[in-house]
Amino acid sequence: MTVLVTGGAGYIGAHVVRLLRERGTAVVVDDLSTGAPDRVGDTPLVQIDLAADDAVEKLVAVMHEYGVAAVVHIAAKKQVGESAERPAWYYSQNVGGMANLLMAMEAADVANLMFSSSAAAYGLPDVPADVLLDENVVCNPISPYGKTKLICEWMCRDAAAAWGLRWAGLRYFNVAGAGWPDLGDPAVLNLIPIALRALTSGDQPKVFGGDYPTPDGTCVRDYVHILDLARAHLATLDYLQRDTRPYELFNVGTGVGASVTEVLDQIKASTGYRLDAPVIERRPGDPAMLVADVQRIRDVLGWATTKTLAEMVDSAWQAWAPTHGEPPVPPAAG
Ligand SMILES: NC(=O)c1ccc[n+]([C@@H]2O[C@H](COP(=O)([O-])OP(=O)(O)OC[C@H]3O[C@@H](n4cnc5c(N)ncnc54)[C@H](O)[C@@H]3O)[C@@H](O)[C@H]2O)c1
Repeated sequence: MTVLVTGGAGYIGAHVVRLLRERGTAVVVDDLSTGAPDRVGDTPLVQIDLAADDAVEKLVAVMHEYGVAAVVHIAAKKQVGESAERPAWYYSQNVGGMANLLMAMEAADVANLMFSSSAAAYGLPDVPADVLLDENVVCNPISPYGKTKLICEWMCRDAAAAWGLRWAGLRYFNVAGAGWPDLGDPAVLNLIPIALRALTSGDQPKVFGGDYPTPDGTCVRDYVHILDLARAHLATLDYLQRDTRPYELFNVGTGVGASVTEVLDQIKASTGYRLDAPVIERRPGDPAMLVADVQRIRDVLGWATTKTLAEMVDSAWQAWAPTHGEPPVPPAAG
């Protein structure tokens, strides 16, 4: 069975493609806006902007040419800040891209879809700070980016009712690390790459807020290793083959939070750099704690994380160091 992976040339997509190739065939559709062709190896890559006017026609042609049986829809614009500055463009890219993909799938008679959603769909949920978020929590996305993810989930649900789309969405929490050193996260948007960039340019990362109601006062998030996350995509494709599918949405996290301070301590241990991060004002809109309840994905998909925070940071560092020039010799950790 050939799986079409949108966004397969990106950080997460390239990991999913590499795992998929171990058990079958894949074709990648990507506009290469943030992805790079060398991340997909010899997997066929077709350059299409999913949000473009001619995307439906081109996607249908790809689905027919490669005999596509399922789609893993990972492609999206993902920068929260940029989405607040350019909301209409985010809706046209992420929601428009999803609309075109669904029209193409219906036209080409491809019924199976795994969709990359995000914990950003939860936003600032109305639950006590220390509660693990399960999939039934009422979503309250605060950024246009998070809203596009929630709308895409609704679109899938409507397509399922209208023409029998078989779909499941994975709500990723904080994805980190690298499965292979050549597939590190090229974007510097999350805590680990931000800290690695600061340290290797002779700077210090900043900690936004040290007075949250968490054990050490810094924000707590749920970090999941990219290889564990990629394996969840394969488990979801298997789930879509089942006759009975009780749920559409699954959190992907570890169920255990790590604070900013804990992550920085691990970065210090993994890199050997001196780390003395200044604590500054809180950023608006940062919840104290966002940690997944992962019981559903464990029970229904039989998926569980296998990797530790140390493995996430070690692998991120091994991918980061060679691609960002010769880092300065780390001063002795103190
Ligand atoms: N990285 C995270 O921590 C995280 C967390 C939650 C959810 N997600 C979601 O996971 C997905 C992948 O994220 P990533 O970190 O790999 O990002 P990425 O930017 O590395 O990958 C996105 C890929 O999609 C492609 N793309 C973007 N817009 C496109 C369009 N209109 N048409 C065709 N291709 C397009 C890009 O070129 C890129 O290859 C996104 O949907 C993102 O919202 C990521």
